[in-house]
Amino acid sequence: MTKTVAPRLVLCPPDHFAVVYAINPWMEPGRWGQGADALKVQARAEWQGFKNALAAAGAEIELVKPEPGLPDMVFTANAAVVLDRKALVARFRWPERQGEEAHFLAYFRGLVARGLLDHAEMLPQGMTQEGAGDCIWDASRGLFWAGHGPRSSLSAAAHTAEFFGVPVVPLELVSQRFYHMDVCLCPLPGGELLCHAPAFSAASYGRLREEAGRDKLIDVSAEDAAGFAANAVAIGNKVIMSACGDDLRARMAERGYEAVVVPLEAFRMAGGAAFCLTLRLNHMSAAAADARKRA
Ligand code: ARG
Repeated sequence: MTKTVAPRLVLCPPDHFAVVYAINPWMEPGRWGQGADALKVQARAEWQGFKNALAAAGAEIELVKPEPGLPDMVFTANAAVVLDRKALVARFRWPERQGEEAHFLAYFRGLVARGLLDHAEMLPQGMTQEGAGDCIWDASRGLFWAGHGPRSSLSAAAHTAEFFGVPVVPLELVSQRFYHMDVCLCPLPGGELLCHAPAFSAASYGRLREEAGRDKLIDVSAEDAAGFAANAVAIGNKVIMSACGDDLRARMAERGYEAVVVPLEAFRMAGGAAFCLTLRLNHMSAAAADARKRA
């Protein structure tokens, strides 16, 4: 019998969260500025509600310390790619977020010191990859889907495959609105994938369909994608997301999933939502899980 392992997720409290620069089309610092005080309070309440929903679904939560001047640090998905107790720490495309790199490296080294991980290192210089935001572990297939284009470089996908010794399927993202792959693709535990097709190049969508199987793709409409429905955290059959239209909810229910909607509007103003606000520390490939069992 296989025992289900509770997901261990890293979150970052939104103490310094704000929209003060624009590095994706959702971010409008002027609009944020008009209601900044109320929005800060709203963000704190939404983040707390989200954290509670994750815990209620069975997640264990780890916190990384927020740093002043790094408002997007709340989006911990971007911190690193983590698998088999190893972390490949992100290098960001835009200077606005590059200050996060050293803090995340120190955090992951701390996790190694605590025995939660075995190894942490930076992605090599000369490439960019924004962590699990663009490199998503598909546990049912035993592979990474790796987005490239707006933020992450294609070369990072090859490096990731070598670093972890697992297959990596590169997929090209062609829209600025869906600048990270986690806003347009979400693998579910049973092998289905929430997917907003127009975010991908035609060739990459073809590849995705071929690798995944057409019947496994659950289409996310433009409207649902704009509500960040594809940016979801799946825990068992619960899929935690910031919005979900009735039609998507029904199609997910047919496959046995329950959409759990938690408001995250303040974070959507920065271009992120549920999945972006988390980073899973305890994904294991089948080979590594077997090796640990035998040890
Ligand atoms: N403002 C952040 C950025 O543009 C949002 C990041 C959202 N994170 C994500 N994994 N999609 O980088």
